[in-house]
Amino acid sequence: MMKAFLIDKFVKDLAELRPREVAFPEQKGHRDLQIQITHAALTHVDMLYAQGLHQNNRRHIKPPFILGTEFAGIVTKSPPSSSFRPGTRVFGSCLGSFAENICADEGTVREVPQRWTNADACAVGASGAVSWGSLVFVAHLKKGETALILGASGGLGVIAVQIAKAVGAKVIAVVGDNEKAGVVRDLGADEVVDYHEPQWENKVKQLTKDEEGVDVVFDPIGAIESGIRCLKYRGRLVIVGFAARGGKIEEVRANRMLLKSITVYGYRFGEDGRRFPENIIVVWNEFMKLVESRKIKPVIYKEKFEGLASIPQALIDLKERKTWGRAVVRINEEAERGERPKL
Ligand SMILES: NC(=O)c1ccc[n+]([C@@H]2O[C@H](COP(=O)([O-])OP(=O)(O)OC[C@H]3O[C@@H](n4cnc5c(N)ncnc54)[C@H](OP(=O)(O)O)[C@@H]3O)[C@@H](O)[C@H]2O)c1
Repeated sequence: MMKAFLIDKFVKDLAELRPREVAFPEQKGHRDLQIQITHAALTHVDMLYAQGLHQNNRRHIKPPFILGTEFAGIVTKSPPSSSFRPGTRVFGSCLGSFAENICADEGTVREVPQRWTNADACAVGASGAVSWGSLVFVAHLKKGETALILGASGGLGVIAVQIAKAVGAKVIAVVGDNEKAGVVRDLGADEVVDYHEPQWENKVKQLTKDEEGVDVVFDPIGAIESGIRCLKYRGRLVIVGFAARGGKIEEVRANRMLLKSITVYGYRFGEDGRRFPENIIVVWNEFMKLVESRKIKPVIYKEKFEGLASIPQALIDLKERKTWGRAVVRINEEAERGERPKL
């Protein structure tokens, strides 16, 4: 047995969540790794999954399931054919990470780079690959272009800012307060705009060459009309998520797209992986090249969340938008250091 956040019915209030004893996860597929979780990261998706508010809750993700999507840990058992030997530190994304252990297909994890702690790797998680896939694989961001990163202080946003800089683009980051502005400036954002400013979209345009607008918009928050206003003629916008929408999706007037001859892409990392597993390998590998060349810095939210029991409060802080970067919960740091857990 082990402790985990089993969702057998969706909750109305995140404070209702409690860890409980569940069966130890056993390897099912021939590529499954058994992993002892040391850290789990809190994402917008987890908050929605707990409440049944995510589009995936209509089809793929229904109770009973274990909450949590991003983690770092240590392989405890692997198939003989696997390159991940027991003892390897890994990070990645798989449903069921708010738990002491998880079984994950080896394609969903990567080895933790030597110079990163498991907390660092957990903070980057699959968000790095999602952001690289959106900006480069799908929206074809290039050196010399200008990228507008909406939700720039969030888990995907902090990585997107760094990817756009690594590509050689000028970055305009949009955030909600001064502390978050400081976070993205430290990551290299060239310009920062607060979305509370009236007509912030005009300010974005003023920051571009001849006030024409940006080449690419990265939108994980659901501000498509605003994004289009910021785009130049023939610009590109990639829709990644709807973090600002509270489940109510924006309706966009189609003439806006025609008038500027823009291209709007959608990118659904998980579904792309299910349909085209070869794409996800490319996306992960290209993102990891940036990690290896030290272009990516993990951004861990300053509050420490210790133990599984701290997850409900961490999710509430995420919902109240106190956090920036990734809030990381330390589930079993002793295991990473090779220590016995204190009894
Ligand atoms: N397409 C995919 O494959 C994929 C994969 C993973 C996640 N996602 C989606 O991507 C989105 C972001 O995920 P995440 O984990 O990065 O979330 P997160 O860490 O919670 O960050 C959310 C961001 O949204 C901003 N935000 C929230 N409400 C806002 C508002 N009213 N106006 C402007 N900005 C607002 C927050 O900034 P402030 O705090 O400053 O307001 C924060 O920067 C989610 O919708 C998630 O479902 C998509």
